[in-house]
Amino acid sequence: MTSVLESAFDRLWEPLLPIGRNAATSGYRRMAYSVADLGCREWFVAAAEERGLAVETDRNGNMWAWWTGPWGGPSGNDAFVIGSHLDSVREGGAYDGPLGVVSSLAAVEVLQSQGVVPRRPFAVAAFSDEEGARFGVACAGSRLAAGTLAPDAARALRDDDGTSMAEAMTSAGLDPGDVGPDVDRLRRIGAFVELHVEQGRALVDDGAPVGLASAIWPHGRYRLTFRGEANHAGTTAMADRRDPVQAWSRTALAADAAAREQHGRATFGRLEIDPNATNAIPSEVRAWLDARAGDEGTLAVLLEQIREAAFRSAQSSGTSVDLVVESESPAVQFDATLRGAVASALREPEGHDVPVLPTGAGHDAGILAGAGVPTAMLFVRNPTGVSHSPAEFAEQSDCLAGVQALVTVVQSLAC
Ligand code: HGY
Ligand code: MN
Ligand code: MN
Repeated sequence: MTSVLESAFDRLWEPLLPIGRNAATSGYRRMAYSVADLGCREWFVAAAEERGLAVETDRNGNMWAWWTGPWGGPSGNDAFVIGSHLDSVREGGAYDGPLGVVSSLAAVEVLQSQGVVPRRPFAVAAFSDEEGARFGVACAGSRLAAGTLAPDAARALRDDDGTSMAEAMTSAGLDPGDVGPDVDRLRRIGAFVELHVEQGRALVDDGAPVGLASAIWPHGRYRLTFRGEANHAGTTAMADRRDPVQAWSRTALAADAAAREQHGRATFGRLEIDPNATNAIPSEVRAWLDARAGDEGTLAVLLEQIREAAFRSAQSSGTSVDLVVESESPAVQFDATLRGAVASALREPEGHDVPVLPTGAGHDAGILAGAGVPTAMLFVRNPTGVSHSPAEFAEQSDCLAGVQALVTVVQSLAC
């Protein structure tokens, strides 16, 4: 027989699945303020309202579904908030973000079915533009609220088609003139717990469906522009070329070697080449570097090694390079008190603790932690270990274990 938990999860998960899905690849394209993102937002409003929650969209596009009652609502203090995000990278998986939002709403439904009510203000949040896949800055919604992304800088960000974030927000019915720090709102949050699909295989190795985050690696996004000279592919001798692809490719190899040496990560996942013609030496290459490491000192060393390699490679190929920081996120250690409380709520009767693991991925929970909000994260096992790809996966039984973990945590800390 289907349990309340299972039917709550399925009724939320299934209508969300087709939104923004590319039938040819099974990948998702739910970039911020796109038609698919707006579809996900409509789904969120309808799902929250069906469960009696009152939805508000804040000035930065983040959505909050409040379970209001004698225990308080949006203006109350010490709120307990659970949730995640709904947007995706280009060709992302179904779980990164939505699993946390669906599981949070399902947890509310399960608690309601048990007649349990909160004892403190309570909301499910869906943060805006977590991936930064359209405008380049990750966690734009939570960063704006925290004051770590300046309003003018955010409004001026442009997507590949030249549409600014301000224009995209306007067409989504939001007022970009209003974006900016939301200090009072964040101050009223007493705890934020984000459930997320694991983006690695640690829980597979641990044989556990659910884990708890200890920390987020520091990471950053950087744009490198290599400039050379466009010329004919057939008539230009190899010795006479100023080819920016050569400079970039040597930099990419050096970045890979440096990341291995530092036990960090370096990825060039996005490239633009001008004029992008088979029979022309390119004039310019724009390459986006995502770099991460276990601590800030190591990340600084890694970045310096890549920067040096870029300048060396540019010089040796007669080209030039400049490097611009697009966003940087410091290391995050999740709040020890909240983490301890979540761990003890989830401790099994025999005394086993859920596994605790760090992550190389960024999250809104990390931005909120940086803004002084006590935060914790739960991870749900991903048997493929793959994320930001259609291969991202979680077994339904593990998803249900995630919902149950949220129910247990909310019951223990908020009801
Ligand atoms: O890119 C990240 O780390 C995250 O998935 N937004
Ligand atoms: Mn992601
Ligand atoms: Mn995510």
